[in-house]
Amino acid sequence: MAKSQIFTCSACGASHSKWSGRCDACGEWNSIVEEAPLSTGPGKKALGGLKGRQVPLLELNTPEAPPPRSQSGLDELDRVLGGGLVPASATLVGGDPGIGKSTLLLQAAARFAGAGLSCIYVSGEEASAQVRMRAQRLGLGDAAVRLAAETNLRDILTTLDTERPDLVIIDSIQTMWTDTVEAAPGSVSQVRSAAHELVTFAKRRGCSVILVGHVTKEGQIAGPRVVEHMVDTVLYFEGERGHQFRILRAVKNRFGPADEIGVFEMTGGGLTEVANPSALFLSDREARAPGAVVFSGIEGTRPVLVEFQALVAPSPTPQARRTVVGWDSSRLAMILAVLEARCGIPFVGLDVYLNVAGGMRVSEPAADLAVAAALLSAREDAALPSDMVVFGEISLSGALRPVSQTENRLKEAQKLGFSQAALPDRSSGSAPTGFGTRPVKDLATFVGEMFGAG
Ligand code: TYD
Ligand code: MG
Repeated sequence: MAKSQIFTCSACGASHSKWSGRCDACGEWNSIVEEAPLSTGPGKKALGGLKGRQVPLLELNTPEAPPPRSQSGLDELDRVLGGGLVPASATLVGGDPGIGKSTLLLQAAARFAGAGLSCIYVSGEEASAQVRMRAQRLGLGDAAVRLAAETNLRDILTTLDTERPDLVIIDSIQTMWTDTVEAAPGSVSQVRSAAHELVTFAKRRGCSVILVGHVTKEGQIAGPRVVEHMVDTVLYFEGERGHQFRILRAVKNRFGPADEIGVFEMTGGGLTEVANPSALFLSDREARAPGAVVFSGIEGTRPVLVEFQALVAPSPTPQARRTVVGWDSSRLAMILAVLEARCGIPFVGLDVYLNVAGGMRVSEPAADLAVAAALLSAREDAALPSDMVVFGEISLSGALRPVSQTENRLKEAQKLGFSQAALPDRSSGSAPTGFGTRPVKDLATFVGEMFGAG
């Protein structure tokens, strides 16, 4: 009997019945690869026919203490983890190659070791000597972290079973392989089965594991999204190559809020924490620059101020450009459409560039009004008052909708020296004393007040 073939997307893990150039599920090109079929699964006989073990059932209201967490002392990391590392948890840290994942985790391992956890760092990419050299460069030569350079998962699990560490870091999951799966290291089935073994080990032996996963573009190596569903916490380490800022973002967390961010700066001596990201993102702001607008946003539990920069210029080609860095491009298209339809301000024949300063990525709809303000300010070549922050969600009718945590946004703005805000008129919460607000009903009113009618 011919074996049924399985095709899997190495970026998102979706299964397909036949090969195609583009994955329907995630839209990635050239990422679909043929996989060896996994175990055949349950047979034709019904499961209930054979005698299984009786599984104990528990009441939902059985008292359960909150998990004791271990803090690394790196506040930016602890906060993103939801207040510290939970014992027996599995965490995935994804990111582009070279962004600083190994550096971050080596520093974290040293801190956790300093806090009394026994830590093992398993590198499948670098020799132990290389890791030691990096540790010395980071000033962590004396940290009580034990190293191994190994990729055979069976040997690693045997070692962990005798050593019983509190925390093990696997750098990276794509280099690990198990001999039970007939596929090359890095393929979807190897990555899945290695992650499954490690996560099961973590739960059974009460040891926390942190898996490193490289984000990949081509289909030869499976990306971290393939294992996202198996782990408790998924963190992505992001940043622009040219910038020294790095953002650790929780996209899934079973033990804390998702969307929390931690901000770091890559220096010659490793990653340092940035306790006040707003001050950093606004650090080299020009006074009264047309097209630049400060948005008072919320990232996780913390307010963060960032600057939106827009450039609007006549397009040399019939097809005008829309280029966005750090924000959603379809959201930009929506705001351009609302400006045109509800305020009569056309962007036809104009190239539009939108950028979030500092390499930050904003996903809140609350930034709509700031984006609209930046676009108008660039188009009219008129700067907004330099002491003003802007936030509010724009609906398709052009009306402004209030957003959450107005007071926190205003307080953070005042702390950084701003003294007024344009915000939706139905916002709840009061402004701090000495802080001016300009409540706006809809986008057309905002345009009229800020830039003169039309
Ligand atoms: P690395 O942690 O190896 O990235 P990843 O594990 O995500 O692939 O970091 C690589 C980059 O970080 C490299 O380009 C050099 C830079 N770096 C510094 O700038 N300072 C440092 O102290 C270290 C260790 C690395
Ligand atoms: Mg690395």
